[in-house]
Amino acid sequence: MVLFNVNSLIHVLCFDYLCMQAIQGNDITVKSYKVESRITSRFAHTTVKSSVVNSGPNAQSIGFNVQIPKRAFINNFTMNVNGITFVGSVKEKTVARNLYAQARARGKAAGIVRYAMETFRTEVHVPPGSKVEFELHYQEMMQRKLGVYQHMLHLQPGRLVPLLQVDVYIFEPKGIKFVTASNTLGEQFADLTKISHAKEKAHIVFKPTLQQQRKCENCTESAVDGVFTVKYDVERENNAGELQVSDGHFIQFFAPSDLSPLSKNIVFVIDVSGSMWGLKMKQTVEAMKAILDDLSMDDYFSIIDFNHNVRCWSEDLVQASSLQVDEAKKYVQSIKPNGGTNINEALLRAVQMLVRASNQGLIDPRSVSMIILVSDGDPTVGEIKLSTIQKNVKRVMREEFSLFSLGIGFDVDFDFLERMAMDNRGVAQRIYANHDAAEQLKTFYSQVSSPLLRSITINFPENAVNNVTQNRFDKFFSGSELIVAGKLQPSDLTTLQSFTTAAAANMDLNIQTEADIRELDSVLGTHQHSFTGFARQMWAYITVNQLLAERSLAPTASKKRRITQRIVALALEHQFVTPLTAMLVEGHDQGRPERLIADSPRDSKHGCCSGTKSKHSPKNENEYCSTTATYSIVNLPHPFDFIAVDSDPHFIMHLPKSNVDICFNIDSKPGHILNLISDPGTGVTINGQLVGSKKMKNNKIQTYFGTISIYSKTDSVQVIVGTDRIDLMEGRNNHSFSWGATVELALNRIRVTIVKEQHVTVTIDGKISVTVLLHSVWKKHPVQVDFLGIYMSSDNKYSTQVHGLIGQFAQEPKVKVYGVHEGADPKKKEATMEVKGNKLAVTRGWQKDYRRDKKRGSDVYCWFIHNSGKGFIDGSYTNYILPQLDSFLTAI
Ligand SMILES: *[C@@H]1O[C@H](CO)[C@@H](O)[C@H](O)[C@H]1NC(C)=O
Ligand SMILES: *[C@@H]1O[C@H](CO)[C@@H](O)[C@H](O)[C@H]1NC(C)=O
Ligand SMILES: *[C@@H]1O[C@H](CO)[C@@H](O)[C@H](O)[C@H]1NC(C)=O
Ligand SMILES: *[C@@H]1O[C@H](CO)[C@@H](O)[C@H](O)[C@H]1NC(C)=O
Repeated sequence: MVLFNVNSLIHVLCFDYLCMQAIQGNDITVKSYKVESRITSRFAHTTVKSSVVNSGPNAQSIGFNVQIPKRAFINNFTMNVNGITFVGSVKEKTVARNLYAQARARGKAAGIVRYAMETFRTEVHVPPGSKVEFELHYQEMMQRKLGVYQHMLHLQPGRLVPLLQVDVYIFEPKGIKFVTASNTLGEQFADLTKISHAKEKAHIVFKPTLQQQRKCENCTESAVDGVFTVKYDVERENNAGELQVSDGHFIQFFAPSDLSPLSKNIVFVIDVSGSMWGLKMKQTVEAMKAILDDLSMDDYFSIIDFNHNVRCWSEDLVQASSLQVDEAKKYVQSIKPNGGTNINEALLRAVQMLVRASNQGLIDPRSVSMIILVSDGDPTVGEIKLSTIQKNVKRVMREEFSLFSLGIGFDVDFDFLERMAMDNRGVAQRIYANHDAAEQLKTFYSQVSSPLLRSITINFPENAVNNVTQNRFDKFFSGSELIVAGKLQPSDLTTLQSFTTAAAANMDLNIQTEADIRELDSVLGTHQHSFTGFARQMWAYITVNQLLAERSLAPTASKKRRITQRIVALALEHQFVTPLTAMLVEGHDQGRPERLIADSPRDSKHGCCSGTKSKHSPKNENEYCSTTATYSIVNLPHPFDFIAVDSDPHFIMHLPKSNVDICFNIDSKPGHILNLISDPGTGVTINGQLVGSKKMKNNKIQTYFGTISIYSKTDSVQVIVGTDRIDLMEGRNNHSFSWGATVELALNRIRVTIVKEQHVTVTIDGKISVTVLLHSVWKKHPVQVDFLGIYMSSDNKYSTQVHGLIGQFAQEPKVKVYGVHEGADPKKKEATMEVKGNKLAVTRGWQKDYRRDKKRGSDVYCWFIHNSGKGFIDGSYTNYILPQLDSFLTAI
């Protein structure tokens, strides 16, 4: 016979900058860890799946963490806990929050996934033996930088995994020029990646065996901890664009090469305040020297360094001759950081310098002018109000100038730097203050050091398209890519055309590109691993990102609101978790009755978000980190795999060997204490005391369990569960808990989990587990009283001496049911049962199992034994009446 109970808590979803291992927990078996990316035309859909088993003796939390790329949007998350599926759906943020609160108020399990950068984290608290499957999906557009698309996957399974596999499928209609894969996992993994590459598709597989994952020959630690990177580029026809049409959407790619660079006018604006002292300054100097060396004779430049004061290496732009470059390098080398930060003044001076050069006719109209700001902190001197600085800079900036900002470390308000850059046709980048900061600075610079085109516009025939994303670009830098997407208008066109105009160093360009409207879809259909919906998602991805940028610059509240509405509508339609949407994760159980129970949120102090913040923690916690839910599931096994005593009180029992379900009632009196389990071998006794209903029904007082005692003599611990509170007695200590809060207690070998207003589970040494369910009725109910149901696992490991109304069936008796015939009540068949040498008349009936639905219960068909189980149980039920809640049964 069997039984169960089992409850589990799910603490869901917290994001955190620090989360490391994919799977967290002790005594956990990770069966598989699979990452699959499908990249089609630079748009990637990545799925991370893991199957995990709690192989420990106790309930515990299993964490699933995934580091996701900065620019990716999560767009699905599902979790299967012992057959119960939790599915995510994207909702407007406040709607998600409300639904989430409602679900929990109704006692349903639910979680919420909020937008956070870089780390997805979830945690499930599950009983021993539980199987949990996680599945996370995210999407992102690959951005071409310095001639390559780079797809990065963080692999940190945290332990050895029998099935660890990474698959990256690339499909590029124009052909793949090259594809490489590398990883930071260590030398032993260098040759394990297999790449197959045909003209327009590639498949990269990385599948280290368990043995290969080991840190050393006989170690149990995994060496898989790092980044797996796939790099590739696509074939391009001369300098034409690439136009793709699929599924009613089009994407225009434009990435010309082989053009001579435009000359540039650059003002470097470098923060030399006190906080830059040390490594940051050293690395900045190193990077600046390399950057200055890279300037050509056609370029003009100057350097402004600022703390509370603003100094210029040269008041005017100078030509980048080798003499001037050497002078500048010496100047940079001599900088000693100290003092405050006057960003406002420094930037205004930089703009003035460019304006003066322009007014003096020094600037070639085909050249590009830019300011590159390097800073590590907030303004502290002069104008310090961020919005005023932003306005001041914007006011003096000219249309033909751009501002690029680099934020070093985490003290800087990166949002501010980014807004300023976007406001002035530039981009911002965060530089991590570590040993390779100089490398990061140089890499960023090389992305903008080679402007090939200016004033690029990509047009489409009117009436052919709408909802076109940004199609005018200030500059095109060598190695990058411009992308425009839109929707096709319904028409009978069979081809779509685009027209690109741009100014190169010595010429104006006009480029026409054409695409067959149906061709790509028919090709995609034949490729098994392509991502067929890519164009639609990619259009939405670009549009949402643009709208988010517009929103952060919106001048009025009403404009901001309108943009917000558009973003939310798109994010819902395309299922993106953005800063304005969240994903609600709810349990579904294929139409079976509700079996999920909510829990109150966990104290956030113990969550991963607070208390464990590192030095790198950003100021705006929400940006990276938000604790979400705690919830629980009453996790049920197969409907018949249990023993239960519930209601008035009726016993339900499944006997697996004979495969019959048996039930009986015990008609005893209020106040009586009945023994359920009495096991001198393990020192455990479980008794229930009856309470009566308030009034008679059919001339009879109904009885129920009002108190359940679980006593472990070995531990000197007794848990007394009442309908009003739970007492935990250990020696002379007496702790009392209410039903009003979710609490987990561990007292040496005893674990007690109280799930608010729902149930209590007591586990003794991981071997014996009992769940007591609380049935609350309306306080003024004329007849009913609050009562308890008790459910036990058939896995419980008792000694051979176990007895009691339930305990005696640990050794299953032989049961035979025969002679089934119609009874007096046509709905209830009758039969004869042979058990323990007795022949009993039994009736087919049903009893309620309340674990899934505490209000209505679900029906369990069983053979009903009359006369309080007489003949089925040893002796008479009166033999099981004991004097005390902690008494053991004496011989029957
Ligand atoms: C999320 O995944 C689940 C399970 O695979 C699926 O049923 C559901 O349709 C997915 N939702 C979206 C929006 O793709
Ligand atoms: C690993 O274990 C095997 C078998 O126990 C042993 O023969 C071998 O020497 C061990 N290798 C190392 C490096 O400890
Ligand atoms: C697409 O364009 C149409 C027509 O201009 C407009 O009504 C619609 O709102 C746009 N849709 C989106 C998602 O921007
Ligand atoms: C335990 O303490 C509570 C409250 O302090 C008390 O009401 C209850 O009777 C005590 N239980 C026992 C068994 O001593």
